Amino acid sequence: MPNFEGKVAVVTGGGRGIGQSIAKAFVENGAKVAVVSRSLSSCGAVADQLNASHPGAAKAYAVDIADHEAVQELSKQIIADFGAVNILVNNAGVTRDGLLMRMKEEDWNTVLDTNLKGAFNTVKAFMRSLMKAEDPRIINIASVIGLIGNAGQANYSASKAGLIGFTKAVARELSGRAVTCNAVAPGFITTDMTGELSEKLREEVMAKIPLGSFGETADIANAVLFIASKEARYITGQVIAVDGGMTM
Ligand code: NAI
Repeated sequence: MPNFEGKVAVVTGGGRGIGQSIAKAFVENGAKVAVVSRSLSSCGAVADQLNASHPGAAKAYAVDIADHEAVQELSKQIIADFGAVNILVNNAGVTRDGLLMRMKEEDWNTVLDTNLKGAFNTVKAFMRSLMKAEDPRIINIASVIGLIGNAGQANYSASKAGLIGFTKAVARELSGRAVTCNAVAPGFITTDMTGELSEKLREEVMAKIPLGSFGETADIANAVLFIASKEARYITGQVIAVDGGMTM
C-alpha cells in the first residue's frame, strides 16, 4: 500500500459504509483524516475508533454537505486544524429511489443537492488549499448507475452522471496546478445503502456481476488509496469502475 505519511485527507460521508472504510485505510497508511458526515455521533464514533489505534490521526466534523455556506466555513476550520489538505474524497451520498411517475420534486432535489452540489461545495472550499499542497488529489465516489442508468433511480443516476462530468471538467481545470481529479464508480457494495434492496432485486443484480458477489467497502478503499497515491500522478479525469466486471 502507498504511504501517506504527512498527508491530510478529507473524507465526506466518513461516518459509515464506504467512507468509513476509506478513512480507516488512509489512517492505517499514515495519513491524518478529517472525517465528515451529517451527524457528529457517526463521524465522531469513527474518529474515536481511528484515534484509539492511531492517536491524533482523525478529527470529526458534522455538516450538511449540500449547504454551500456551511461547507465553506467548515473548510476554514479543517485547514486551521490540520494545515493544508492534500486529498479530498467526495463520498457523501444518498438515494431517494422511486419510479419517475411517483418521484417527488423533493426527492430529486435532495439527491442532486447532496451527491452533485455537495461535491461542487467541497471542491470550491478546498481547491485553494489543494493547489498549494503536495500531490493534490480529488476523488469523487460516483456509481456504475451514473454510467448505465437504472429504473427507479433517475435522480441518483443523474447525480452520479453529473458527478462524472464534473470530475472531468475539474480535472481539466486544475491540471495546470497538478491537482488530479478522478472518479471511482462502485458497483454493488455491501453497506447500509444496499442493505435496503429486496431479496428479488439482490438476486437480479447478482446475476449481472461476472465476479459473482457484491463488493466489500475495502475494495473501494483500495482503489481510492491507489488513485490518491503519489504513484498515480499521471492519472486524471478517469472513471475507475470497481464493480466485479458489471459494466465492462
Ligand atoms: P451510506 O449510506 O452507508 O453512507 C453515506 C454517508 O454519507 C453517511 O456517513 C452519511 O452521514 C453521509 N451523508 C449523507 N448525506 C449527507 C449530507 N447531506 N451531508 C453530509 N454527509 C452526508 O452509503 P455508502 O453505501 O457507504 O455509499 C457511499 C458512497 O458510495 C455514496 O456516494 C454512494 O452513492 C456511493 N455508492 C455506493 C454503492 C453501494 O453499493 N453501497 C454503489 C455505488 C456508489
